[in-house]
Amino acid sequence: MKSWVVVVMLSTALISMLPPEPSAADDKGVYLFKVPDKSTIPNGPAGEMIGRGLMLVTHTPRELPLYALSSLRCSNCHLKAGTVAFAAPWVGVIHRYPRYSSRSDKNVTLAQRIQGCFRRSLNGKAPSIDSEPMQAIIAYMTWLSRDVPPDVKVEGRGFPALAHPPTPNRQRGQELFKDRCAVCHGKDGGGRLNEKPQRYPYGFPPLWGDGSFNIAAGMARLHKAAAFIKRKMPFTAGGTLSDQEAYDIADFVIHQPRPDYAGKENDWPKGGKPDDARY
Ligand code: HEC
Ligand code: HEC
Repeated sequence: MKSWVVVVMLSTALISMLPPEPSAADDKGVYLFKVPDKSTIPNGPAGEMIGRGLMLVTHTPRELPLYALSSLRCSNCHLKAGTVAFAAPWVGVIHRYPRYSSRSDKNVTLAQRIQGCFRRSLNGKAPSIDSEPMQAIIAYMTWLSRDVPPDVKVEGRGFPALAHPPTPNRQRGQELFKDRCAVCHGKDGGGRLNEKPQRYPYGFPPLWGDGSFNIAAGMARLHKAAAFIKRKMPFTAGGTLSDQEAYDIADFVIHQPRPDYAGKENDWPKGGKPDDARY
C-alpha cells in the first residue's frame, strides 16, 4: 500500500477521535460556546434549508460549481462546518453583522461578508444576496447562533493573531513544510485527492496553486495564516508547532504562487491596510 494511502486512512480514523468542543460557560467575559444539538433543527422547509446550508459549506465545489472556482470548501478553514473555536467559528456570527469593514469602507451585512469569502477564499464568484444558496448558508449560520446571546464576545472568533508575532524565516519555513505538512498537502502544496471518490474530493486541500485561495483572502495574510497553522495544523497535532515555526511555515506558504484578485486595488480605499496585506 502506498504510504500516503496509509496517511489518509490513519487521519480519517484520527479525525473521528478529536475531542468534542467545549460547552457553554462564562469565563472572563468570553462566551464559551456550545454547538446546538442536531435535534433542534426543525422539521419542514426551515429545517431543510439549514441542512442544505450545511451541505453547501461542506461540499462547496460540487454543490456550487459556478461559484466555488477553487478546489476548496468553506469548512477547510471554518473547521467542522464553522463549529470550532480559533478556526473562525460561525456560532454567534449572525449577531456580528452588519459591521464596518475598513477593507471596503462600508457597513457590510453577513451576506456581503460571505460573498467576500466566495470571491477571495474560494477564488470564485459570489451568489447574490437573495439567491437560494446564500439564504441556505445564512439559515445554517442562524441555527448555529441560536443559543448565543447578542453582544457577547465569542470564544476564539476569527483566527486571532498570536500575542507576540516573531519575525518569520521563509527558508526555514520551506524546510519545516517538507517535514510537517507535505505528507498530507503534497510537496507541491497541491493537496491530495481522496482515494475513493467522495462528494468533496480532496482528502487534503491545496495550500497554493490554481486550486487554492487567492492573494486577497484572509488566509493569505501572515498573522491569520500563522494563527490557524499554530493552533490547528498539522491537522491531528494542532498546537505542537512553536510560534516561530508557525510563522516560518505561514510565511513560506502564503508566498507560494496563487491566483491574483481582480479588484484588489479597490481594497482599503480610506486607508487602514493591515501590515500583512499581500498588495
Ligand atoms: C481559505 C480559508 C477560507 C475558506 C475556504 C473560507 N473562509 Fe470564510 N473566512 C476566512 C478568514 C481568514 C476569515 C476572517 C476571519 C477573521 O476575521 O479573523 C473568514 C471570515 C468569514 C466570515 C466572518 C466570520 C466572523 O466572525 O466575522 C464568514 C461568515 C465566512 N468567512 C464565511 C465563509 C463561507 C460561507 C465560506 C464558503 C463559501 C468561507 N467562509 C470559506 C477564511 C476562509
Ligand atoms: C494529517 C494531515 C495534515 C497535515 C500533516 C497538515 N494538514 Fe493542513 N489540513 C488537513 C486537512 C484534512 C485540512 C482540511 C480540514 C477539513 O476540511 O476539515 C487542512 C487544512 C489546512 C488549511 C486550510 C485550507 C487550505 O487548503 O488552505 C491550511 C492553510 C493548512 N491545512 C495548512 C497546513 C500546514 C501549514 C501544515 C503543516 C504545519 C499542515 N496543514 C499539515 C490535513 C493536514
